Amino acid sequence: MRETETRQPRKDWRFILIAIVAGLGGLLFGYDTGVVAGVLLFLNHVFHFDASMKGLFVAIALAAAAVGAAFAGALADAFGRRAVLIVAAVLFSAGAILASVAWTIPVLFLGRVMVGAAIGVSSMITPLYLSEITAAHWRGAIVTINQFYITVGIFLSYVVDYMLSGVTDGWRWMLAIGAIPGFILLGGMMILPESPRWLAGRDLIEKATAGLRFLRGRQDVSEELGDLRRDVVEGSRRAAPWSLLLERKVRKPLIIGIGLAVFQQITGINVVIYFAPTIFQDAGLSSASVSILATVGIGAVNVIMTSVAMRLLDTAGRRKILLFGLCGMLVSLIVIGIGFMIQLHGALAYIIVGMVAIFVAFFAIGLGPIFWLMISEIFPLAIRGRAMSIATVANWVSNMVISGIFLDLLLMIGRGPTFIFYASMTVLAILFTLWIVPETKGKTLEQIEDSL
Ligand code: BGC
Repeated sequence: MRETETRQPRKDWRFILIAIVAGLGGLLFGYDTGVVAGVLLFLNHVFHFDASMKGLFVAIALAAAAVGAAFAGALADAFGRRAVLIVAAVLFSAGAILASVAWTIPVLFLGRVMVGAAIGVSSMITPLYLSEITAAHWRGAIVTINQFYITVGIFLSYVVDYMLSGVTDGWRWMLAIGAIPGFILLGGMMILPESPRWLAGRDLIEKATAGLRFLRGRQDVSEELGDLRRDVVEGSRRAAPWSLLLERKVRKPLIIGIGLAVFQQITGINVVIYFAPTIFQDAGLSSASVSILATVGIGAVNVIMTSVAMRLLDTAGRRKILLFGLCGMLVSLIVIGIGFMIQLHGALAYIIVGMVAIFVAFFAIGLGPIFWLMISEIFPLAIRGRAMSIATVANWVSNMVISGIFLDLLLMIGRGPTFIFYASMTVLAILFTLWIVPETKGKTLEQIEDSL
């Protein structure tokens, strides 16, 4: 009986609304980070940006994302998940519009800071809200669906970049279009209810009941409400102080979570995601729009391979796929590095484009989804929220550092050595995985907790 009840919502329009609307958080994360790939090509004409200023333009949104992610958990506990997502939706739209009409550099940066903060908040709260309003059965899938939405957002941003690359002031429209999913998210969050789990935790049982009735599309939700209240009581009984983070039994999952967060970034994925057209122009592709077109292809590979990963993760196991993905990334990075060192230009530049596509494909199969999945699995329940938030912040900070210094690094040590540097970080990531990352496939969260 329970089983059919938990499966039923899938066919329901409410389930579809939940998936579309709340998933927009992931889509905006992808769109607003990916869009800079195209925008960057035009900023030197308008604001005379040099390499350092371009790096700063990218990094400033990521810094704001790190701050947003750091406070998101506490804000969502205090004011509710829905309220925080509504504020994020407003920030997404307002920031996009402000950056798109910017007439000075400070205004441009302010717009990007607003968007960045919204990205950071929604990267934490979207999966949290989704997992709380969806029946238990779908929780695992939801985490990977979020990564899927991120890649779709990146892909869409590349398509928009391409279509607008020949238009006067096209970069302004590239930024402005991010406001549209922001408005849809806002509208959707007005319809969707607050998380019943959060309401139950505050003893707002009537509201929690009404929310559950809406979400499940039936009147009798007493059984699920009972489970929810039991969970909440159990959760607060087991809730532990911050100091638990320093204890031995939490040390290992923390090392894994922070390690994967840092390796996900320092192996260079976002250098490709944000700077692909710049890299392709350096490799000899003729124009901005040809480079952006090649980037659209990269975005498509990312989406397709992420959907392959969603199928593979529960059958082949996380650890094996992670290692397989890292080895593929390593080989492609070495070829890109050598390609630049021996000055592959002209037609041979397509080898670099192809290798970048292969690099992204292997990331999308392994390190991309597995980092987000693992941090939702490995931490003891009592500190899961806080520990996930630490890992997320570590991810954004590493992203900021790596993306912020990329263009300067190219000038300082050259293209080839820069990619060989990412290759050497990938070697470390492989050793790290062999050393400490466990297999979590098919285990319950409790079994994982015990094994660690
Ligand atoms: C990473 C992002 C990255 C994206 C690429 C995510 O898992 O956290 O930083 O841009 O994958 O698909």
